[in-house]
Amino acid sequence: MKKSKKIYLDYNATTPMDPGVLEAMIPYFTEKFGNPASHTHSFGWEAEEAVSNVRITIAKELNANSREIIFTSGATESLNLAIKGLCQSYSDEKKNHIITSVIEHRAVLDTCKEMDKRSWKITCLPVEKDGLINLQSLEKALRDDTLLVVLMHANNEIGTINPIKEIGMTCKKRGVFFAVDAAQSFGKLPINVQEMGIDLLAVSGHKIYGPKGIGFLYVRMKNPQVRLKAQIDGGGQEQGLRSGTLAVPLIVGLGKATELCIKERKTENPRLETLRDKLFKGICDVFPDTILNGSLESRLPNNLNICFPNIEGEALVMSLSDIACSTGSACTRTAFKPSHVISALGVNDELARSAVRFSLGRFTSEEEINIALEQIINGVERLRQLRLK
Ligand SMILES: Cc1ncc(COP(=O)(O)O)c(C=O)c1O
Repeated sequence: MKKSKKIYLDYNATTPMDPGVLEAMIPYFTEKFGNPASHTHSFGWEAEEAVSNVRITIAKELNANSREIIFTSGATESLNLAIKGLCQSYSDEKKNHIITSVIEHRAVLDTCKEMDKRSWKITCLPVEKDGLINLQSLEKALRDDTLLVVLMHANNEIGTINPIKEIGMTCKKRGVFFAVDAAQSFGKLPINVQEMGIDLLAVSGHKIYGPKGIGFLYVRMKNPQVRLKAQIDGGGQEQGLRSGTLAVPLIVGLGKATELCIKERKTENPRLETLRDKLFKGICDVFPDTILNGSLESRLPNNLNICFPNIEGEALVMSLSDIACSTGSACTRTAFKPSHVISALGVNDELARSAVRFSLGRFTSEEEINIALEQIINGVERLRQLRLK
């Protein structure tokens, strides 16, 4: 029996690798296998050059210096290094307060929780109904002992985009470090660390059609220089901040993925926005009680997160057997607990449990959206009829 092809609408969880990325990586698994730390022969030099080129590509995209890019295994590790490394490095300066927000990814929330256990004071800012940080509440939360503000650029569940430049300027005025979780925005939205006042920035390759297990941390080295305590000891690679032999094929993949995103985003973003809006409108036309979670204006073009009143989101997702979508963050799915992000918007528990995220990407076609729309409508109708029985 031929299995029907699944329609993948979960690009905020992860993306398939672009074929161009795989092609760029392959030689670095076989003939170009050198260790970039081998300075005595051409195998090492070749690997070192490949890594250096990726550093330059990423730095250029961020308006940073290539020495400020530290390769890691991904955003989670980068955020751990940023938060723990900064706190440990400045622990003697009587600054022991961190500000974050309630809708952060667990990579930030749980790292902050760990710092709380280590006697750091944490303020978790609420968000507005539209999912955005309120600048005045940030200003109010800043204290003389605040060392760090750590916030996401774009949210993984509802796709909302924070006013990063304004937040960065607020932090600069107060002499507070600003770390940004850019796992969902890098490559898709332009980022300028100088103009946005960003001191640390975390990214994962697998969100931008690159490989899993690779990412980076941008660490500002000037105006001001950010000091971090390494969390991994060893050979002293990555300026001593992340020891361990560099994953050259993965780094090459990350570089290619970055290049492709920059090249494609001018056409890709409007295309995804049109498809996303078509899906949303199609659902709303049939179910006018559908509720959008988070701002529509300040939002990633590929993300749709909606509540279907009187339906369990989990039941809908499970019933859509040909569509891969989710009820929220893939990493925090707990059947009976509504998403902490949707709850933070002021949505009651029952409604929050009806939320479903559809996230589109580079390989989503209009035909797939038409099929998905039909199946979502059928699925919602079926579940509502079951409820009435
Ligand atoms: C906003 C955000 N931050 C951090 C992460 C963690 O990324 P990774 O699991 O690749 O380390 C993710 C991944 O889902 C994310 O969406």
